[in-house]
Amino acid sequence: MRTDRTFTMLKPDSVEKGHIGAILEKITASGFRIVAMKLTQMTKADAEAFYAIHNERPFFGELVTYMTRGPIVAAILEKNNAVEDFRTLIGATNPADAAEGTIRKLYAASIGENAVHGSDSDENAAIEGAFHFSGREMF
Ligand code: RTP
Ligand code: MG
Repeated sequence: MRTDRTFTMLKPDSVEKGHIGAILEKITASGFRIVAMKLTQMTKADAEAFYAIHNERPFFGELVTYMTRGPIVAAILEKNNAVEDFRTLIGATNPADAAEGTIRKLYAASIGENAVHGSDSDENAAIEGAFHFSGREMF
């Protein structure tokens, strides 16, 4: 299992607010190389599958509605220690708890609408990347 790639989504709130450029600049300035990237929109079935691990949680319905309400930017990123370093760059799930300078501190409105996704393990990074991209879309 490779440890140098992670998967991210700039969530619908980031796209709606015009934050794509600023967030991508922060990601690349932090040393991540873009391996794959596209503007896309998840269907209800896509979001239910992507977030299946949360399907018993009280916020699941809200999460699916949020993640499907508009386009997202999906991307695979490469860097040494990518998964952990990207989680550090995005900050805590709840922006109120996120460290100064993190993407969620800067751009997220709330725990429910928190601007960006980052994979939580190498295994999930590979699964999530393959969910959105074919091999010929990775460079
Ligand atoms: P993500 O998977 O999107 O990178 O976020 P995360 O690991 O920091 O947080 P996770 O526990 O995996 O939760 C997934 C997403 O569900 C929404 N959420 N809402 N209303 C709530 O209490 C609540 N808790 C989580 C967020 O959009 C969170 O990123
Ligand atoms: Mg998560």
